[in-house]
Amino acid sequence: MEETKLWINGQWEETSNRYSLTAPYTGEVIAKVAKASMKDVQRAIAGAHQAFQSFRETTAYERAEILYRVVEIMRGRKEEFARILAAEAGKPISAGLTEIDRTIATYQFSAEAAKQSTGETVPLDAAPGTKDRIGYTKRIPIGVVSAITPFNFPFNLVAHKLGPAFAVGNTVVLKPATQTPLSSLAMAEVFKEAGLPDGALQIVTGSGSELSDSLVTHPLVKKVTFTGSGAVGLKIKEKVGLRKITLELGSNSALIVEPSTPIDQVISRCVGGAFGFAGQVCISLQRVYIHESIYEEFSNAFVQETKKLKLGDPFDAATDVSAMIHPKEVDRIKNWIEEAKSQGAEVAIGGEFTERTMSPTVMVNVKPDMKVVCQETFAPIVSLVPYKTLDEAISLVNASDLGLNAGIYTNVLTDAMKAADKIEAGTVVINDIPTFRVDNMPYGGVKNSGYGREGIKYAINEMTELKFITIKTTI
Ligand code: SIN
Repeated sequence: MEETKLWINGQWEETSNRYSLTAPYTGEVIAKVAKASMKDVQRAIAGAHQAFQSFRETTAYERAEILYRVVEIMRGRKEEFARILAAEAGKPISAGLTEIDRTIATYQFSAEAAKQSTGETVPLDAAPGTKDRIGYTKRIPIGVVSAITPFNFPFNLVAHKLGPAFAVGNTVVLKPATQTPLSSLAMAEVFKEAGLPDGALQIVTGSGSELSDSLVTHPLVKKVTFTGSGAVGLKIKEKVGLRKITLELGSNSALIVEPSTPIDQVISRCVGGAFGFAGQVCISLQRVYIHESIYEEFSNAFVQETKKLKLGDPFDAATDVSAMIHPKEVDRIKNWIEEAKSQGAEVAIGGEFTERTMSPTVMVNVKPDMKVVCQETFAPIVSLVPYKTLDEAISLVNASDLGLNAGIYTNVLTDAMKAADKIEAGTVVINDIPTFRVDNMPYGGVKNSGYGREGIKYAINEMTELKFITIKTTI
């Protein structure tokens, strides 16, 4: 049985406490994971601060080279990393390989961004009495970044924090999700081999509010970046004080399907967007608003396509949907479905449970205030809802506290542009599902879906200070 350690100042360190890590699909204990104490966290932060003093002085070229080496090392270890995802997250191996490819792209974008961090000149002679002055901006690293990451993309959402931070010369104390530490610990060695200086990456595993509190309140921490639930995000935001913060929170992502949509060409994409990684994706397709003229055809096709999905072992290459992250999440969503049914909703397909799995489930006859519609389900469940006019569909999409990504299928340009303007979301995807994401695009939500943006260049803006330098060219 693997017994993990903490990664502090470029060394593995023992702890006296460990917790058992259980595989989501089998329930077997797969590792005993080190539990960091508050003292460990404080040492990690102090070490990251110390490492920052020299890492901030490295050149863009040196930092880019480290990140390019990470890309090369990861390319040679894809299968191994996908297997870590299958074991600790229950992520089907095919989805795991896709995540590793995306992670490699994220580090590659970060390497490129290291060389492209630019400023601008400011025309200081624009005001009276300012002759002979010039000024320019530059981005400078902020210092120690605390990164708290979720279980659903244990490699790539970590990369979205480490990549931009290292690109600009910050150092990071990373606390991966309690359920998915093994992927981050594997990255510790990748970064060491790639030449990242000791202390620039510290990894503290474990759980508990004391641990998270020191990560977000320690005076040497200058930036907090968190991806996870809205409830935890709010608690963190209340504690960070004047520190910079980025929050990537949840969503109940919606798609509008207009009458011009070629159903046969989009249906498998829609079903994939609803059930990929058992719906445990912040931009998983959760609500589909379908024009009434094509509602029946679309919903029949959706149900037929859902029937094709194979539920099973994440290590089986044929598996589409595997376990949910924890049995208590299965219980939660089961209750939500029962509640919706008691209020008139119906299950068109799915709704079957084991202790650890849930079959891909399609709900119909739902109402906007049912939990399965208005809250983030984070489960393999989607609701199909007919509408009469595009304005009505847009209002239904917007009738939510959340707003990360939303999508619309239409071949009418004016309708697409209306949706783009009126939908309240961080991203509007035209002619694709809201689950679409390329890792260099700005990513983040409005309303309760978050605060700030990721997507390397955008994350860099949030992890640096803008410095202005002005020169008087004559005395
Ligand atoms: C997330 O769940 O926030 C990330 C989704 C993605 O990167 O595809």
